[in-house]
Amino acid sequence: MTKVDQNAVLFERAQKTIPGGVNSPVRAFRQVGGTPRFITKAKGPYFWDAENKRYIDLIMSWGPMIVGHAHPEVVAAVQKAAETSFSYGAPTEGEIELAERICELMPSVEQVRMVSSGTEATMSALRLARGYTGRDLIIKFEGCYHGHADSLLVKAGSGLLTFADSTQNAPSSGGVPKDLVKHTLVLPYNDVAAIEEVFKQQGDEIAAVIIEPIVGNMNLIQPSKEFLAAIRNLTTKYGSVLIYDEVMTGFRVALGGAQSLQGITPDLTCLGKVMGGGMPMAAFGGKKEIMSKLAPLGNVYQAGTLSGNPVAVAAGLKTLEIISREGFFECLTGQTQKLMAGLKLAADKAKVPFSVDSVGGMFGFYFANEVPRSYEAVTKSDIETFKKFFHFMLDEGVYLAPSAYEAGFTSIAHDNEVLDAIILAAENSFKKL
Ligand SMILES: Cc1ncc(COP(=O)(O)O)c(C=O)c1O
Repeated sequence: MTKVDQNAVLFERAQKTIPGGVNSPVRAFRQVGGTPRFITKAKGPYFWDAENKRYIDLIMSWGPMIVGHAHPEVVAAVQKAAETSFSYGAPTEGEIELAERICELMPSVEQVRMVSSGTEATMSALRLARGYTGRDLIIKFEGCYHGHADSLLVKAGSGLLTFADSTQNAPSSGGVPKDLVKHTLVLPYNDVAAIEEVFKQQGDEIAAVIIEPIVGNMNLIQPSKEFLAAIRNLTTKYGSVLIYDEVMTGFRVALGGAQSLQGITPDLTCLGKVMGGGMPMAAFGGKKEIMSKLAPLGNVYQAGTLSGNPVAVAAGLKTLEIISREGFFECLTGQTQKLMAGLKLAADKAKVPFSVDSVGGMFGFYFANEVPRSYEAVTKSDIETFKKFFHFMLDEGVYLAPSAYEAGFTSIAHDNEVLDAIILAAENSFKKL
């Protein structure tokens, strides 16, 4: 009798009570096919599925687990916080400490408001930008994903790029009013002429430009210097708010986020993922002049029962402490580059068209000869080959993002031994393609 796969058993059971069997669409393996792995435990760079098979984790909860899973110091901080209750609905000193730490690490952030998810952070930042400027229009870029708030589900990346059939300025999701997305202008990433033209025509009506300063939601795509400079100059000239969505890149590509690498000072920044160390925690912050428009000081309303949750704050504070230690980012960046170089060499040996990119602990690989720089370019990479590679790697015990349109993530626990194992798995997988 053949043994029944426990992941399949759980997936079938899950689908009865959870739509699609998952609580976030990309987890369902729709792009790559097959059965999602149900995770039972994790430690350092590894997690285990319902069959007790061990995988090297290269998604790290889609970014947050930068110090590795179940880091003993983070676990201890969370345990200590949990002993004194999980939530008060009243302020705590820990929130002040976390706010102070964020403001220190990201000097563009003069004040910060904590929320529970990246979606809430971007949604609230947009409302604030609109309230501050008294304007309605926003600009976003093709393939950038900023969470699932209505205004932002237009030509969005991540799961939407995987599933949706987006056409220009149509919502990428059902249930989003056309009337709402008409206030969202979508422009190509890295296209200076397009943003100049739009500002020339409608600059005085634009409340905000929201951007992933290094995109991780259509695989990893880096901006050009000229593109970033044009956005900063135009938003300043026309009095629009520049929102850096660093939910993914903040405390992941560098201690000071993408803005510290790019030398750009945004007006508002959205944070999430690493800042909560894997707990539901996110934030938005920036210029005091803008932040003071928020309730209770100003008339832009924003609130949350679990905002600044003390257990999440404890995980976030400890994670930020660990990543601030000397040499952390040098090591993480070096390890990630080493991994990418190893994958590229393995692909070259097998004569597979392949390219790689990475920033800090975030990486992209593409079944394409050149690293893409736009949504259009990335959608031309060889998705069929990616799917095969994904499954060969999974069999080898390496868990990649189950979509060609997602970046990958390493942690400080991905040491040389782990990297060698991934590269060996890749060599075996490329040979089979
Ligand atoms: C850049 C960016 N912004 C916002 C979000 C939304 O965050 P959350 O999933 O916590 O709502 C994500 C999620 O992946 C993201 O990558």
